[in-house]
Amino acid sequence: MRLNGKVVIVTGGAGGIGRATVRKLVAEGARVVVADLALDQAQAVVDEVGADAAIAERVDVSVFAEVEALVARAVEAFGRLDVMFNNAGIAGGRPLLEHDPERDYFPMIRIDQDSVYFGILAAARQFVAQGSPGVIISTSSIYGESAAENAFAYGAAKAAVISFTRSAAYELGPHGIRAVAITPGRVNTPMIQRLGPELGSLFAEQQASGRLTEPEEIADTVAFLASDEASAINGTVVHVDDGYSV
Ligand code: NAI
Repeated sequence: MRLNGKVVIVTGGAGGIGRATVRKLVAEGARVVVADLALDQAQAVVDEVGADAAIAERVDVSVFAEVEALVARAVEAFGRLDVMFNNAGIAGGRPLLEHDPERDYFPMIRIDQDSVYFGILAAARQFVAQGSPGVIISTSSIYGESAAENAFAYGAAKAAVISFTRSAAYELGPHGIRAVAITPGRVNTPMIQRLGPELGSLFAEQQASGRLTEPEEIADTVAFLASDEASAINGTVVHVDDGYSV
């Protein structure tokens, strides 16, 4: 029970990685706010793990006021906040030459990039107000570190997540706050499943083991990073990509 008594917000908590992470965190003793645009699905996660350990909250992470309100709600429900997992996101894109910035760039930046800035800012203010240490984990991607097809905006947003993490560690370290980014490779979640079995197989082949990573494997890493066992891991990127980036 490495996370006994810790209060954690998981954004995108109704999705593939989020849901697996909520399960793992609760199993490790945490109390969790399952935050997502999809409130019904977030509530289904709470129904599964138990209402004494988790609550569901609707949030649009691309709106700062909503992220601030989410942090306030966590404090109201559980008395404090210890870990922020900025994980909600969308994927997709088209070739650069076909871009309409209003359709293909700005929405992606708002949801995958601005959201992480908002999450870091709101959580850090709460940690400092509490006068206690805190951890901020944010989901980047292998595309944050390398170019890929149809990933012009997605890659930019995910690269910003890494930069935010470094800057957060630099600025907030003196307050006892750690910030870590994770870069999953190809994870077997609705985000990948939506692309169809053919692309799923291709993605699997690109990983060292020849299979997709299961969301539970990402969750195990997040639980470790959230725990005091990771006390010296700060401002860095943890690759959870099954060798994709080597
Ligand atoms: P998913 O599609 O299963 O889950 C994403 C969740 O985010 C959904 O529940 C969705 O409702 C929520 N969401 C989307 N926009 C939101 C908003 N504006 N406000 C609040 N919630 C919102 O996807 P998955 O795979 O679990 O993705 C989680 C994170 O992992 C994302 O940031 C994604 O970019 C990243 N990632 C995923 C990879 C994969 O292979 N599945 C690989 C690398 C990174």
